[in-house]
Amino acid sequence: MFSKALLAASALVGYTLAQSCPEASRFGGVTYSPNPIVLGQEVTFTGNFACAIELGYAPVFTDYFLEVPESNNTGFQPPVYIARRGPPPSGGIDTFTYTFDPEYSPFTTNPDAQYVIVVQTTHAEGSTLVTGSTSSGASIVQASD
Ligand SMILES: *[C@@H]1O[C@H](CO)[C@@H](O)[C@H](O)[C@H]1NC(C)=O
Repeated sequence: MFSKALLAASALVGYTLAQSCPEASRFGGVTYSPNPIVLGQEVTFTGNFACAIELGYAPVFTDYFLEVPESNNTGFQPPVYIARRGPPPSGGIDTFTYTFDPEYSPFTTNPDAQYVIVVQTTHAEGSTLVTGSTSSGASIVQASD
């Protein structure tokens, strides 16, 4: 009797978790600190893949980029590769640090550029690797500001 109740309760928890994960969260999300990012100062990135795992898109690896969206891009602002990370720890939260080089010429040439942080998430469907990505706006200030 007791174990049946426990099973029912855990099934309910699983259901509730799935319900709180919108389909759009299947490739994870990323936040960073401090905000805004200061070039030349260490930034802590936190990838959240709890919903990706919950929805069956458990990452095999993840890639992070700093990008200038096409609408604001001079054509000479390629994505900056921040990191490739392995599978996130159980719980789905992956934290790491990165410091942008303030001397990188597109930063100095286009000090007012608009940026997004992109996390590209790769998961396995059988023997096939499939990727998807999410992006969020990022504010950057020059080291000298
Ligand atoms: C990008 O946006 C910034 C800030 O609005 C602006 O100063 C800059 O000229 C834009 N660059 C391009 C290529 O659109």
